[in-house]
Amino acid sequence: MLILVKYNFDPKFHKHDYFIYNQFLDVTVNNQLWLHLQLHTMARILTGIQSSGKPHLGNILGALKPAIEMSKDPKNDSLFFIADLHSLTTVRDPQLLKENTKAVAASWLAFGFDTDKNIFYRQSDIPQVAELAWYMGCLTPFPMLANAHSFKDKSEKLADVNAGLFTYPVLMACDIILYSGEYVPVGKDQKQHLEMARDIAEKFNSLYGETFVVPQAKISEEIMTIPGIDGQKMSKSYNNTIDIFQEDKALLKNIKLIVTDTTPLEAPKNPDNCNVFKIYALVAKTHEIASMREKYAAGGYGYGHAKQELYECLLRTFAIERQLFNHFMQNPTELETQLACGAEKARAIALPKLKEVRAKLGL
Ligand code: TRP
Repeated sequence: MLILVKYNFDPKFHKHDYFIYNQFLDVTVNNQLWLHLQLHTMARILTGIQSSGKPHLGNILGALKPAIEMSKDPKNDSLFFIADLHSLTTVRDPQLLKENTKAVAASWLAFGFDTDKNIFYRQSDIPQVAELAWYMGCLTPFPMLANAHSFKDKSEKLADVNAGLFTYPVLMACDIILYSGEYVPVGKDQKQHLEMARDIAEKFNSLYGETFVVPQAKISEEIMTIPGIDGQKMSKSYNNTIDIFQEDKALLKNIKLIVTDTTPLEAPKNPDNCNVFKIYALVAKTHEIASMREKYAAGGYGYGHAKQELYECLLRTFAIERQLFNHFMQNPTELETQLACGAEKARAIALPKLKEVRAKLGL
């Protein structure tokens, strides 16, 4: 945030008095000092992670790593949570729900999310968010929810739509506003949900007075461009993912399934049309990418060779993360301790906000 402060210049003003501001002094115009103050205010980053299974390479490169990078900025404080309440709209198997939460938590910790600096928690550990969702649901117009893509996509088969799926955007809005999230890194598919969150926050503020921060989406374009093993966007629903946390042999098998064309081994190949190269280019180092590009162009280099290189590159690049992931999966109490500590910090933000809301509502 850049704030421009205007000072009337007083000739009697002792030099010493403004010496401390010297580093900010920008211009002196007509006996007036203009003081540029770069205020390093904290920005609160908040995002929810669907607990729909073990994160795959697409999730990791498109969402997890960029969010962790953002959280490292000393000017940011980050709240990242596992959206297990949202998962209940689809998951019916309690064991699976638990396993998914564990795998998501293990991945974020394996990639070095700093839980001392930030807050990492499970959505359901602060069930007060569901209470807030009721209050906000009472302010949310029906047509707004009926317009949500996430609902509309399923509206031909309404018998399959549960009320939780319909009100999903309200709970999501509450996830954000309960914790005064300012910037919300999400994929493009969540853009509309973020607009609804803004509308909901503004509606409450206008009815009951300033209460909630109106959040802003931070859309990562990159998330759409991580190709799966068939060249479409990598997604669990297309069954085209790469699971970097599986055992070596299974990983190699996974890589071998990457779809390639039938250009013979001897022939030169265009790396830019090849799924193996495209994925390699997202994880390898610059000189490694250049070298593989040359091999494609030169011919005598088959897709099998490229797949082997990609496999070795994944093992190398994610050696530490793979080890840590296994460590956390095998030591669930360590995960639980981390999540409990996160829940405590999250609760300290959520409870006073909810109290304020209840008072304003007249409860
Ligand atoms: N709906 C989001 C997704 O599918 C997950 C989510 C739930 C979320 N609550 C949130 C994301 C709050 C950002 C903020 O990816």
